[in-house]
Amino acid sequence: MTTFPLLQLPLLAMENVLCMLSPFELIDVSLTSSRAKKVIKNFSRTKETFPVSFSNGQHSILFQQGRTTWSYGFEKISHIAYIHPFNTIMMLYQTTQIMKFSEEPLKDIMKWFDYAREVLNCKINSVTLDLGCCTNENMQTIDWIAEQSNTLDYLTILNDGQDSDDDLKYLMERINVLKSLQLMVQHYKDEFRMEIPGKPNRLLIGNSKFVDYDQLLRLKSPVIILRKSILTNEEINRFLRSWMSCETHLELKAFEINISGPEAMNEIMDLPHEKTNDPEIVWAFKEYLMVGYVDNEMYTIKRCDGKKRATVTVWYRTQWSLYMVVH
Ligand SMILES: *[C@@H]1O[C@H](CO)[C@@H](O)[C@H](O)[C@H]1NC(C)=O
Ligand SMILES: *[C@@H]1O[C@H](CO)[C@@H](O)[C@H](O)[C@H]1NC(C)=O
Repeated sequence: MTTFPLLQLPLLAMENVLCMLSPFELIDVSLTSSRAKKVIKNFSRTKETFPVSFSNGQHSILFQQGRTTWSYGFEKISHIAYIHPFNTIMMLYQTTQIMKFSEEPLKDIMKWFDYAREVLNCKINSVTLDLGCCTNENMQTIDWIAEQSNTLDYLTILNDGQDSDDDLKYLMERINVLKSLQLMVQHYKDEFRMEIPGKPNRLLIGNSKFVDYDQLLRLKSPVIILRKSILTNEEINRFLRSWMSCETHLELKAFEINISGPEAMNEIMDLPHEKTNDPEIVWAFKEYLMVGYVDNEMYTIKRCDGKKRATVTVWYRTQWSLYMVVH
């Protein structure tokens, strides 16, 4: 094998070579000597940082640059297929994946990324966190993320198993989400209550049984999606009235909440409204709330300052829900 004197190249030539290397290759080069590590760190500092996703369930870190992704992970099973970079192309995304065997996959991926972020000058901006682990492990993971930064752009929280209420509260206290918070935890204790801090652009709560009417009034996100809600028709009617009177949710763009069925609209829409069939509004439902098709009545309501209108309809996805877009 011939060696390539990368570090002896003139700066410009060296940078041209480094620009062609993947994050994994940059890490490999940085590991060859302390001088190489300095060079890579210096090079990364001048480059735009790329989005990084972390999943504790898969013990993996994913770097993304346009349509190219690099994923590094650890698994506890010993017959792992790709210790060497493994390439796939799917849906126009090119992915390079490295998966290694580890007795302690979570600990190892954290250690690996601690080094990677030091040399590549990058930070995690998207996390999928499964709280189905034991409390001890959840806490360690939350602390590890929060020590890097107390804000994330995207956070999805999962747990299909037993409640992890205290861990969830701890997470919400330590991390603020800016763009999208998806709380997909299925079970809470009966008396569970929790505030959602900050104002993620999009807030989806998969089981919103802890969100009562007063808390809904406190939610500031422009897009709010409440599944498995406990709100009654009368409360949903009050929520719409409060929006119409400019009392709350001045920044609201879209809202979704489950209801019993189309007949619930008689009670919910017991307020001043007009019916519409404007195709642009149909489009807005698709864009904000991914409503597949609008085949029920659309009702338009007005805000008292005359600046905004909103249109409401019902649709069946996995349960009947009311959908509202502001325009
Ligand atoms: C760091 O990068 C800058 C700009 O690319 C360069 O001028 C400088 O010589 C580099 N320093 C080291 C230690 O490589
Ligand atoms: C919303 O869903 C939850 C859970 O499935 C259910 O208990 C509740 O009654 C539904 N809300 C309405 C208004 O039907």
